Amino acid sequence: MNEEQRLAGQVPLAKEKDYSQYFQSVYTPPSLKEAKKRGKEEIFYHVDFAIDEQYRGMGVGRKFYIRTFGCQMNEHDTEVIAGILVGLGYESTNDVKDADVVLLNTCAIRENAENKVFGELGHYKSLKIDRPDMLIGVCGCMSQEESVVNKILKTYDQVDMVFGTHNIHRLPSILNEAYLSKEMVVEVWSKEGDIIENLPRVRKGSIKGWVNIMYGCDKFCTYCIVPYTRGKERSRRPEDIIQEVRQLAAAGYQEITLLGQNVNAYGKDFEDGEYRLGDLMDELRKIDIPRIRFTTSHPRDFDDQLIEVLAKGGNLVDHIHLPVQSGSTEILKIMSRKYSRESFLELVSKIKRAIPNVTLTTDIIVGFPNETEEQFEETISLYKEVGFDMAFTYIYSPREGTPAARMQDNVSMEVKKDRLQRLNTVVNGLSAEALKPYKGKVVNVLVEGESKRNKEVLSGYTEKSKLVNFRAPACVIGKIVQVRITDAKSWSLDGEYIGILEEEKVMS
Ligand code: SAH
Ligand code: SF4
Ligand code: F3S
Repeated sequence: MNEEQRLAGQVPLAKEKDYSQYFQSVYTPPSLKEAKKRGKEEIFYHVDFAIDEQYRGMGVGRKFYIRTFGCQMNEHDTEVIAGILVGLGYESTNDVKDADVVLLNTCAIRENAENKVFGELGHYKSLKIDRPDMLIGVCGCMSQEESVVNKILKTYDQVDMVFGTHNIHRLPSILNEAYLSKEMVVEVWSKEGDIIENLPRVRKGSIKGWVNIMYGCDKFCTYCIVPYTRGKERSRRPEDIIQEVRQLAAAGYQEITLLGQNVNAYGKDFEDGEYRLGDLMDELRKIDIPRIRFTTSHPRDFDDQLIEVLAKGGNLVDHIHLPVQSGSTEILKIMSRKYSRESFLELVSKIKRAIPNVTLTTDIIVGFPNETEEQFEETISLYKEVGFDMAFTYIYSPREGTPAARMQDNVSMEVKKDRLQRLNTVVNGLSAEALKPYKGKVVNVLVEGESKRNKEVLSGYTEKSKLVNFRAPACVIGKIVQVRITDAKSWSLDGEYIGILEEEKVMS
């Protein structure tokens, strides 16, 4: 679709929604049952977010501290929350003891993610005793679960407010309520599915930026809580995304990561359903910014058009994160992933044919209910067959309210842990193997800063997300430079700085 067609209205126009229709109370708790519903309601584009006059100045002389758990989506939400707080006059602080507003932006994906949050909240009890005027808030995916909100209400009275993933733009009024109310303010909408544009953001860095392209998930993999905590799939309009990427490019950003729980479903919710991720990437690749990536893709919606566009290369990086979860067709079926081992391998072959130099990474869950030893071994063999460069590996964690949590499970925790360890041995071995061929080669590195271990060493990433350490003047931070690799370690590469990249492309 070209500019003319878009302007001619072939992409959904902004639809405005009147938020005053909402019942506003200090207590609107979540409901997983409501969150599960997927109706045919229209998606509303709320285009003119602005901080209400009455709340301006609320934060003057006050500081905020946000601790973020979970995925990039949450990290990016934190940038929006910070943007709203700064808009209210608050200043940021890295010291929780110094803060007037403390927020925990939480993740619900696995039990241990939730336990970390409850642990942190426990520490805040004494903070609150020392500083009774401090406001403590819980937001993010955990706040969308009624069991969590009930537990907070019952046991964590140091918490002043709980707000959901669909309520971020309501933060000024939620804070206002929290200052006025003696009760815990809970505002969690379960069934929202709108898009709010024009949100302020305080971005964490000035080299790499995140851009949401869609929200929510309709896949309902049987183990996963995300479709309940993030609502239905809804895509931002291409023009809003393109404008944001252009602005970041103009501000000097070197790399953009397009965000969505399942970015391959981009555009499915548009009325004509014809403008898809391939179309969007084809437009974004024309923007003058060195690197564009996306996360996360789902094998099910990975279409040929997208592969064709990615094969054009340029600023579209040749690294694709493609979660497979399991190598067993039976397990994939019970997970409701809607693809088989065979169709996944076919997709991989298609991608490799079109992009011969592609690097693939993945996510894997071991110990899904009743997973047999043979089924687990199919995961190992698939991993080797694809030749993934890296994987995030997890032990299955039952999530209350999801279908898998109701399944009987005959696999002991001991067996699950053993499988994770065996898988990790394969994953780590292949990761190290993937680094060896780099020795002696020249790579392009986006320099992010000083190495965490040694201040005299700079570090950055290649297009394929390989960590490279090298010595160079600090003035190259934020630039793409050429480095000759001298040594391949298990997790990273060491190299010698050559110079700032001119135009030519070497091994990425
Ligand atoms: N939307 C992404 C995944 C987001 S969650 C996708 O579909 O690829 C990130 C990863 O967490 C998933 O890929 C999965 O491997 C893991 N995960 C999700 N739910 C889980 C659960 N209940 N237990 C263990 N791991 C889980
Ligand atoms: Fe969860 Fe599946 Fe959606 Fe990914 S695609 S967020 S794993 S339900
Ligand atoms: Fe966690 Fe929510 Fe992201 S559950 S992984 S923070 S979408």
